Amino acid sequence: MSKAGAAFSLPSRSTQLDSTMRYKLLGSTITPPPIALVSNIDEHGVLDAAPFSYFNVFGEDPAVVGISILSRSSDDPKDTGHNVRRSGEFVINLVDESTLDAMKITAIGFSRDVDEFKAAKISSAPSTKIAVPRIAESRVSLECKLLQVIEFGAMRSLAIGEVLAMHIADDAVLDAERGHVDLPKLGIVGRAGAHSYVRTSDVIKLAVPSAERVHGELTGLINSNAPFGRAEKRQPPPRRL
Ligand SMILES: Cc1cc2nc3c(=O)[nH]c(=O)nc-3n(C[C@H](O)[C@H](O)[C@H](O)COP(=O)(O)O)c2cc1C
Repeated sequence: MSKAGAAFSLPSRSTQLDSTMRYKLLGSTITPPPIALVSNIDEHGVLDAAPFSYFNVFGEDPAVVGISILSRSSDDPKDTGHNVRRSGEFVINLVDESTLDAMKITAIGFSRDVDEFKAAKISSAPSTKIAVPRIAESRVSLECKLLQVIEFGAMRSLAIGEVLAMHIADDAVLDAERGHVDLPKLGIVGRAGAHSYVRTSDVIKLAVPSAERVHGELTGLINSNAPFGRAEKRQPPPRRL
């Protein structure tokens, strides 16, 4: 057994890990997740923002995203947890290189009466479908309506939202009609463990080949160096094996 894998390789052992160790191992291996800088608002109109890297997209029709919130205590679901449940609205502003410094400040556990837009020196821009404003400096923002909150145990909750509107920085839109976006230009940043982050400028392009092409290569009908496209379409369909 390898030294690195020994301690965590057995399921029966992994269930014995305490929650801090599970948090560390999950966060440093299921990586890099994108980071949602969530803007939300309290009942007095105080603006709040906070980063959430337990975040992803789960559907497109309807467009569905989710953030997972770890409560501070059984009666403090963080400002975001409180405000999202109360107002049923939030904006996910994706963290990019230009909002990293602001993100760091909004991760501080300020009391609820602190305007975190002011604290982090970010400005608000009106949303089009909801009352909660987005972060003007963000390159991508998703206006969300809360669909459901799923509780996991006493401290974790998953807030699932439907995306009602999306804003993408103009200079990163390559072709609006076809929905093509220049990812490196967006400068999106992902989380890579506790205090580490990764850029998305190093893009690998990899098209999934057709079944015909793979079959053709296996049977020698297609030269594996041939470009994708018309050549593979000319091949007969694979014989059922
Ligand atoms: C990069 C990063 C990612 C984070 N991801 C999460 C997360 O997924 N869930 C969570 O509960 N807290 C997460 N946090 C911590 C919250 O941002 C922090 O508790 C914040 O103060 C909550 O603010 P609020 O009370 O204004 O909602 C993260 C912090 C950082 C720096």
